[in-house]
Amino acid sequence: MVDYKKIGLVNTREMFRKAVSGGYAIPAFNFNNMEQMQAIIQAAVETKSPVILQVSKGARDYANPTLLRYMAEGAVEYAKELGCPNPQIVLHLDHGDSFETCKSCIDMGFSSVMYDGSALPYEENIRISRQVVEYAHKYDVTVECELGVLAGVEDEVASEVSHYTKPEEVIDFATRTGCDSLAISIGTSHGAYKFKPEQCTVDPATGRLLPPPLAFDVLEAVEQKLPGFPIVLHGSSSVPQDEVDTINANGGALKAAVGIPEEQLRKAAKSAVCKINIDSDSRLAMTAAIRKHLAEHPDHFDPRQYLKPARESMKRMYIHKIVNVLGSNDKL
Ligand code: G3H
Ligand code: 13P
Ligand code: ZN
Repeated sequence: MVDYKKIGLVNTREMFRKAVSGGYAIPAFNFNNMEQMQAIIQAAVETKSPVILQVSKGARDYANPTLLRYMAEGAVEYAKELGCPNPQIVLHLDHGDSFETCKSCIDMGFSSVMYDGSALPYEENIRISRQVVEYAHKYDVTVECELGVLAGVEDEVASEVSHYTKPEEVIDFATRTGCDSLAISIGTSHGAYKFKPEQCTVDPATGRLLPPPLAFDVLEAVEQKLPGFPIVLHGSSSVPQDEVDTINANGGALKAAVGIPEEQLRKAAKSAVCKINIDSDSRLAMTAAIRKHLAEHPDHFDPRQYLKPARESMKRMYIHKIVNVLGSNDKL
């Protein structure tokens, strides 16, 4: 059993309390490799922001669970080396799919876990969420649970309102599970293709697709039921069109990729939303920089030559999100 406090990590409790009262959101960035982790920590240190390093099941399969956990331990020391004496870094399991996965992460030093039972029947979601919370709280690990289903790329976000979180369920769910934060569904979704073209309108000025707005009425109703309770938004990449264009101009083929407009995330960050998950925007920034570099330097074959600009591009994106969207800068 690894005690996360001994390796300098923190859980989300105090971080979320300050974020909710301060009207900002903590960035939760996924990482799968060293360059993403370096860019996240450099951005957090330079902006004096707390940060959540998220590891998905896919990341654990890709990189190896032990390596990722030691990279997070290294991240704390790296932040100190970069000039931040008291970094506020959470190591969080993203979309834990079972009690066993959550337990395995808690046992190896994660300070926070998500149990995602959102696809299960309501009572089953409560039962396993409660089991995870009971285990996690013995070690002061915080737990995020999810209620409501995020639309996938095949789902009808705009019309299938039943996928949204039902505000009338949140008090019962939060009370019976004992979770520390709640991920809700208000129209965000995962990946770079969040909406079908027919769900969007076309911006006459740019010809770009404009997605349907998030369901702020659902968010407000949830906040009224659970005043001050930490709310989480998944699927919050904005899919910057300049990155999509760079990818496509350099051999890529990303058609009709659409994300969540940043103004809407800015508005959400000022509410009880205190954790905003971003992964796809990092993938886009990295891929765009690598494609551009290799197109301009076809003779390069040392990975450091193209991973360096990729890391710099991700860092710029993380800093932009922290300062201009989430507002978590200057909080350390
Ligand atoms: O919510 C999903 C995250 O973007 C992680 O994605 O499972 O492909 O690592 P992944
Ligand atoms: P995006 O795919 O919008 O970046 O969402 C990431 C996420 O929700 C991770 O849990
Ligand atoms: Zn997610």
